Amino acid sequence: MNLTLFVWRQDGPNAAGRLERYEARDINEHMSFLELLDVVNEGLIEKGERPIEFEHDCREGICGSCGVVINGIAHGPTRATATCQLHLRHFRDGETVTIEPWRAKGFPVMQDLVVDRGAFDRIVQAGGFISVNTGSAPEANSVPVSKPVSDQAMDAAQCIGCGACVAQCPNGAAHLFTAAKVGHLNILPHGQPERWERVIRMVEQMEAEAFGSCSNFRECEAVCPKEISTDWIARMNRDYLLAKLRERPAGEEKGGVG
Ligand code: SF4
Ligand code: FES
Repeated sequence: MNLTLFVWRQDGPNAAGRLERYEARDINEHMSFLELLDVVNEGLIEKGERPIEFEHDCREGICGSCGVVINGIAHGPTRATATCQLHLRHFRDGETVTIEPWRAKGFPVMQDLVVDRGAFDRIVQAGGFISVNTGSAPEANSVPVSKPVSDQAMDAAQCIGCGACVAQCPNGAAHLFTAAKVGHLNILPHGQPERWERVIRMVEQMEAEAFGSCSNFRECEAVCPKEISTDWIARMNRDYLLAKLRERPAGEEKGGVG
């Protein structure tokens, strides 16, 4: 199959970017989208030109490294699919495909299709962990977790930190990512001792970054390769509200949020 590509090229964080046209000829439709970029890059290297920078690691949808906006959709046209798992058979022969980096103030472009997602690391560093003296391994059944709770925790823990939710959100909000990272710990018994402190620290770090506010467009949920539900945002907001109420001195509880 043949594809016409328009790829965002940007030499550095402060350089002006532009869409460059490339013709991909006789491409195997069973290739992944990242393999398409590999082939284009081989051609560029042969011509002595700078290859297109893009991020990738596992190429099996689990590490969260990859991610580009394809024809305006984060991770492309197939639901619940990271860019590395997207195959060219989902495109038509002769189609024109536009490839851009994540577009969000919170993710500045470093070069071509690579963005700085350090803000996600800082949100996790603010509270996305459980502090314990580990000692020796505890007996497996010493902290019982019910099946419904463990299933829900695993749903949220599937977040791979790719950033598609931010890229697709008209507000550039990071609520789905943050809610998944707060939620999978706050729902488990192990997460209870730091539950209120965790949600305050992570939400306030999210707000300190250059992300926007959530106004329930739910574009994030639509493009998330792990189908994380926006229900987690509601849970995070509730936990944050409860945590802030707990911070109030005694006697100030009247006249608050109903
Ligand atoms: S919530 Fe989904 S889209 Fe957002 S970072 Fe996690 S896996 Fe990626
Ligand atoms: S390269 Fe790891 S999720 Fe795509």
